[in-house]
Amino acid sequence: MKIGVDYYPEQWDKSLWEKDAALMAQTGVKVVRIAEFAWSRLEPRDGVFEFEWLDDVIAVLQRFGMEIVLSIPTCCPPMWLYEAHPEIIRVGSDEKQIQTGIRGHRCVNSPVFFTYAKRIATQLVLRYGNHPAVKAWQIDNELEAYPCCCDECKARFRNWLLDKYDSLEAINEVFGTSVWSGEYSSMTQIQPPSAYPTEWQNPALCLDWYRFCCDSVNGYVRELATVMRREMPKIKITTNTWISGNAPDLYKMFEPLDFVSYDNYPPVQIPEDPEEFYSHAFFLDLMRGIKGSNFWVMEQLSGPTGSWAPMSSTPRPGMIMGYSLQALAHGADTVLHFRWRTARTGAEMFWHGLIDHSNIPGRRFFEFAELCKTASKLSVIDTTELVSDAAILYSPENAHALKIQPQTEGYNYLDQLRYFHAAFARFGANVDVVSPEADLSSYKVVVAPEMFVYKKAAAENLYRYVIGGGTLVLTNRSGVKDNNNNCIMESLPTVFKELVGAEVTEYDPIGAKEQKIKDFAGNEYVCRQWCDILRLTTAKAYAEYSDNYYRCCPAVTMNRYCSGVVYYVGTVCKSDFYESFAGNIMRQTGMPRLKGLPKGVEVTTRTNGLDDYIFFFNNSEENAKITLPKAMFSIIDSAGKDTIDLKPFEMDIVRK
Ligand code: GLA
Ligand code: ZN
Repeated sequence: MKIGVDYYPEQWDKSLWEKDAALMAQTGVKVVRIAEFAWSRLEPRDGVFEFEWLDDVIAVLQRFGMEIVLSIPTCCPPMWLYEAHPEIIRVGSDEKQIQTGIRGHRCVNSPVFFTYAKRIATQLVLRYGNHPAVKAWQIDNELEAYPCCCDECKARFRNWLLDKYDSLEAINEVFGTSVWSGEYSSMTQIQPPSAYPTEWQNPALCLDWYRFCCDSVNGYVRELATVMRREMPKIKITTNTWISGNAPDLYKMFEPLDFVSYDNYPPVQIPEDPEEFYSHAFFLDLMRGIKGSNFWVMEQLSGPTGSWAPMSSTPRPGMIMGYSLQALAHGADTVLHFRWRTARTGAEMFWHGLIDHSNIPGRRFFEFAELCKTASKLSVIDTTELVSDAAILYSPENAHALKIQPQTEGYNYLDQLRYFHAAFARFGANVDVVSPEADLSSYKVVVAPEMFVYKKAAAENLYRYVIGGGTLVLTNRSGVKDNNNNCIMESLPTVFKELVGAEVTEYDPIGAKEQKIKDFAGNEYVCRQWCDILRLTTAKAYAEYSDNYYRCCPAVTMNRYCSGVVYYVGTVCKSDFYESFAGNIMRQTGMPRLKGLPKGVEVTTRTNGLDDYIFFFNNSEENAKITLPKAMFSIIDSAGKDTIDLKPFEMDIVRK
């Protein structure tokens, strides 16, 4: 495992570079990301490049043994470029250009912007593509499916629609524009549904707009990567991402890239309500699932966060070390901390790095130094990966469609995924979070929550999986929409009805109201948000409603289909239901279960095919004790043990 830092040499006096690099080396830092936002320093005037300072920085870092991630700084076009070509500026939902002076203001569809982006990228790659210290490249920063309403985007969107549907008549048909006299008689009448919230907009138009925005940003990444590889075919390219409100289709975004990198900022305050999600394990598994392989953390929590929001608490003792190792436990092989030193100027001066404004290393830095030491003992993990029996399907498109039309109070796409994830994880299972179109054949159980918008490839994939003997879990709000985001004229769950062996005769979106269900064993659980009232055809009831006029109607079902089994969860419960449900499925599918893990203790396993390494992470503020089934060797303590004692946020890794 390699530990690194994000460093912004352009923000510090030159006299500090060497001191910083020396301290990095002494601390055990191995990787440094630079130049992420440094366009104005690299090209201070149009076509005038100044790379000498970067040569110096790279030489200093190299001298101290650092590997370098070099960034293409296109997130921050320089002021002269905005002034000379204001048409590159993104246009907001108010039809006004976004005020410059912050960052991320470029329209990724602007040809002028792309010309400049291509030029700076080419210059950097030509100069440093063969540099022995430069090991990887980062394109831009936290790219999203930006909605931009500039003239270029509008024109491209209209062409995108014409390409897809061939004619204006077909567009009218697909969008169902007879509603509210919305029929278009010319392409120019089609406008981006830019006024958010989108409740009053046409959902079919909204989903296509999202798809267009995804294609735009993904096309930008693909083209830039192509330009870079044309000069230096062997370079390794990534971009750093997270799950934002405008999350693009990450599966497509990373297709042309070599590896996934994640910006990992787990919350530092453990919520009082145990139903509130806390662990970031789900997001780490999602990042691994994007390409189905190990990933990097390009930015890792290092101090109190804040700037554009009030500051959070400072990471508790153990978190700097623990959360990096938690990322390792879920497949991150390299973790860079954001950032080496806290900015003294600019908007993010209170988003803290490892070293505070004082430039005096303190508690967090010393813990980071310990992390570097620990990481240096973990090279045996480098060749391992996670193999999972359980998968949860994450679909950016369903996530977005459910944002366009929130279904009921409190109903949240990611929450349902996270409930299932947390439930399987409670028993120490590795869980993959993957695309609905991923190869599912190796999984013992696949959970496909809220398959809201129909996608042929995904639906066929699920049928194939079950026919092949798999165990599938489907939920409420599946098969609701056709691929155009319009409702299907058939009883729910429409395309999945045969798999489920039951149909929804009526539904009750109860929002925040709480009711109960009772499972086959007589256990009662709270349910809320959504109640599908089910009529069984071939399925059996797993749980029934205890209240309301649909008391005794099935709420959760189980159906045998070919050689597989399909569960349908028609409502939304709290964590206790999902835990018992996952436990039953694991028993039935023969998945190993670790029972009685203390609350907050997370267990994953990485393997190299010969040896398994079990990670025990105490993601809680209480001490935890785990008794092992037999004595095992801890590679953290270099000692055999049969019990594991963990302080808050402490990790132990044992060889099985
Ligand atoms: C993101 C960005 C960083 C920085 C941090 C902290 O992860 O990628 O550049 O802005 O957030 O705000
Ligand atoms: Zn635009």
